[in-house]
Amino acid sequence: MKFFLDTAEINDIRELAASGLVDGITTNPSLVLKSGRQFVDVVREICEIVPGPVSAEVISTDHETMLAEGRKLAKIAANVVVKVPLTPDGLKTCNKLSKEGTKVNVTLCFTPAQALLAAKSGAAYISPFVGRLDDIGTDGMKLIADVVQIYRAYAHIKTEVLVASVRHPIHIIEAAKLGADVATMPPSVLRQMFNHPLTDKGLAAFLADWAKTGQKIL
Ligand code: G3P
Repeated sequence: MKFFLDTAEINDIRELAASGLVDGITTNPSLVLKSGRQFVDVVREICEIVPGPVSAEVISTDHETMLAEGRKLAKIAANVVVKVPLTPDGLKTCNKLSKEGTKVNVTLCFTPAQALLAAKSGAAYISPFVGRLDDIGTDGMKLIADVVQIYRAYAHIKTEVLVASVRHPIHIIEAAKLGADVATMPPSVLRQMFNHPLTDKGLAAFLADWAKTGQKIL
């Protein structure tokens, strides 16, 4: 399973990219707002840090302007993936950009039917939002199960399932069990994945015993 960070915070990206665990980045207009940075500048900087796919989202809602925005974003760096919303104009734009050779991430997916439309539109990634479905009292992970099942039933579908709106490590584990291709997560969730109190306790005991041996490795 590939791990993407869902953030536009450069410090987090630098730190976690250095761990070797980060395969790509996703951003959205809300995350750009939070970063306080100029959109194009921050996307360019992220692309210089992370060689993998970096999603940058269009902000128009009509096809022609989305297409122009997508083409402009794609020119920022070779690893930019243009993100479009799951609307009729968004999918029309996805179709066109994909045929031009630009990878597209279709975002704001909440149903298997929407995911099927995105695959037919040539999307490189579909982003089903698990957390926001959980937030309204529905089972977000059921959507991942449905989309994975549908995509796997057709060998010609190459669209990757990118689990988005992740809230905690359990979302990652459940999505991995289902065989989702990618999970994009806030930096805090990636950090949480390391944690277990028995790891901390066990390490403290090993180090205390090692100190008693009086030996050194280096
Ligand atoms: O970037 C898309 C998605 O991951 C947003 O997540 O937490 O705002 O629902 P969230």
